[in-house]
Amino acid sequence: MLITTETLLGADPPRSAYLESYRVLRSSILALREKEPFQTLLVSSPAQREGKSTVVMNLGTVLGLVEKPTIVVDADFYGEGISAMLGISNDTVGLTDVCLGQAQLEEALIPTQIPSLHILSSGTQMEKGPELAVTGSMKQVLSRLEDRAEFVLYDCTPVSGFGTAASLAGAVDIVLLVCLARSQVTDVQRCLDSLREVGANIGGVIVNDVLPHDSVVYRAYHRYYG
Ligand SMILES: Nc1ncnc2c1ncn2[C@@H]1O[C@H](COP(=O)(O)OP(=O)(O)O)[C@@H](O)[C@H]1O
Ligand SMILES: [Mg+2]
Repeated sequence: MLITTETLLGADPPRSAYLESYRVLRSSILALREKEPFQTLLVSSPAQREGKSTVVMNLGTVLGLVEKPTIVVDADFYGEGISAMLGISNDTVGLTDVCLGQAQLEEALIPTQIPSLHILSSGTQMEKGPELAVTGSMKQVLSRLEDRAEFVLYDCTPVSGFGTAASLAGAVDIVLLVCLARSQVTDVQRCLDSLREVGANIGGVIVNDVLPHDSVVYRAYHRYYG
């Protein structure tokens, strides 16, 4: 299986505010790394459908475009992660199979048309993922992934109502929280507090779904983007 560039970047023209926003995020991530070296990054959010998988996939893509060896891992074991987004079928081996010793990491890594970007799906044993996330075998796989890439990005479940984000947040270098612009500040704060309680190092908060007419950037550049 090979994930195409069109699947990753969509039909967006190169000059789009959407793609540009991920270039901005890439610059922020690279600048953050200058201050505080990190390699593994987990993306979570207060609730479902706030844009975690979209953000993690696009961030992986723009890092891949500048030839940063990157692996994007689907650690959402409820079928709402990047595997579904990229059309990877449920019978494709991935993270859970490797943790259970039922697949080799090499065979599970899915190449993309961007040579430095690989994908690791959640695998065929997703239902075992939440428990595997607290085992030594998952920690071992996580560290083997670090040996293979400059960046390992984890797409995860929401913080509220799911255990996986809390299980993995302390095992990665930094956590990014994605939230919708219309989110309640108190909900976001509660999530940040609970992530910190499990030892997460919060790298930042990404505000998603900002309405174009509310955005200073859009107003300044709408002619450029067409
Ligand atoms: N900024 C955005 N603008 C438009 N649609 C978006 C945006 N971010 C996410 N989406 C869409 O919203 C839905 C939920 O996003 P997704 O990344 O799957 O959320 P999550 O992983 O948090 O559940 C998807 O259909 C996605 O394509
Ligand atoms: Mg998702």
